[in-house]
Amino acid sequence: AIERTLSIIKPDAVAKNVIGQIYTRFENAGLKIVAAQMRQLSQAEAEGFYAVHRERPFFKDLVAFMTSGPVMIQVLEGEGAILKNRELMGATDPKKAAPGTIRADFAESIDANAVHGSDAPETAAVEVAYFFPTLAVHSR
Ligand code: CMP
Repeated sequence: AIERTLSIIKPDAVAKNVIGQIYTRFENAGLKIVAAQMRQLSQAEAEGFYAVHRERPFFKDLVAFMTSGPVMIQVLEGEGAILKNRELMGATDPKKAAPGTIRADFAESIDANAVHGSDAPETAAVEVAYFFPTLAVHSR
């Protein structure tokens, strides 16, 4: 099915000047960028976005990192976009990410891991709406 998924290019990858290289990977995989915004997140925005991780030991560091510099936030659309984006990203820990994936090629650590991508249709709908509240999402 044609899906939409939320993608974030994190502060480490923005600072490395590889937004274009990452966008090219999305495009070459058949994913279309249908909305985008570059912003510095506030602490409240980052905490809200990652609310499901609130009780995890890495939450504070995660929020500090995500607010440390500008991020590039986009909605990707395409056939099986959620899984396709996760395949392009590779494993959360770049040390475990398969060769040729975004995290293997651009990420340094599990915190500074270059990109975020929604992990399921339910979270994709919530995450897209979080940053693009006026973008209508019709997932079925
Ligand atoms: P992301 O896909 O943005 O979702 C939550 C983030 O928390 C994750 O990528 C990692 O960057 C970060 N993180 C740090 N430590 C961990 C961990 N032990 N397990 C999962 N995510 C972690």
